[in-house]
Amino acid sequence: MATTGGDAPGMNAAVRSVVRSGISMGLKVIGFTRGYAGILAGESIPLEKRSVGGIIHEGGTFLKTSRADEMRSEEGLRRASEVLKDKSVDGLVVIGGNGSFRAACDLYEVSGIPVVGIPATIDNDLAGTDTTIGFDTAVNTALDAIDKIRDTATSHERVFVVEVMGRDRGFLALEVGIGAGAEIILVPEIECDVGEVCGRLMESHRKGKKSAIIVMAEGVGDCAEITRAIRESTGFEVRLARLGHIQRGGRPTAYSRLLACRMGAASIDYLLAGERKTMTGIQGGRIVPVDLEYATETYKPIDENLYRLAVMLAT
Ligand code: F6P
Repeated sequence: MATTGGDAPGMNAAVRSVVRSGISMGLKVIGFTRGYAGILAGESIPLEKRSVGGIIHEGGTFLKTSRADEMRSEEGLRRASEVLKDKSVDGLVVIGGNGSFRAACDLYEVSGIPVVGIPATIDNDLAGTDTTIGFDTAVNTALDAIDKIRDTATSHERVFVVEVMGRDRGFLALEVGIGAGAEIILVPEIECDVGEVCGRLMESHRKGKKSAIIVMAEGVGDCAEITRAIRESTGFEVRLARLGHIQRGGRPTAYSRLLACRMGAASIDYLLAGERKTMTGIQGGRIVPVDLEYATETYKPIDENLYRLAVMLAT
């Protein structure tokens, strides 16, 4: 098992579940440290039930993680495959996001060793699963920050542009924006130019709303430039807040922990059932196996009804 790519709150709960479920089923479990970098370097530790005590509530990942570009090369994949074979690995559980799963698919092709991916990313950008471990926590973390920013926005009658993560997708921004009661939500999937944003801000200002929160996904573009353009065009006092990596850390919510526990156990079930290249997904509340390649290669659309709801509720 390894945790790879960007950390996500709930990864530790998933590690704990994989270890304890695996051992309960009579398996021997080892953990590679530092993600694929650790696999490539052959760095692994034996994991016992007690090794994963006291971590379910902690953010980050005690196995550590990294983004390993070497896994994009044939040489890297060959080396990783040799390490897994040297260590007599019969099945690999990868806890991570999109890039990690693409590498896991390639590693399966080269090594023939079955892989199960457990989706853990604050971006929620994997197809075949309604949500991912860490997403709910990141939404709540961002909401907590924006509630505080709202106090200043209201007191000073200011407009705040709040940039949230999500890479090139708007899942995080959409849910955060709705929960925060944002006046405007900007996501890469839905076109909305600065002129339209300014028009909406001025219209609501005329109607008596003197402050506003704009939640903007990082994938939309340069937030500093957009903030400047809004300031110059409206003449309002506009400030920028980039939430950054605080969205990735912190204690996982109950939902993220429960999902991690369920998916960790499912990953062992899938390996024992003979699945070879699978992701643990959640659809309509049920944990289901999803083809790993499908999960990474299929475009997962955002829910445009949610976006329309947000626009309606903001007026
Ligand atoms: O994939 C998770 C994520 O936090 C994205 O939302 C963000 O674009 C990226 O990782 C940041 O990566 P890094 O921590 O490597 O700068």
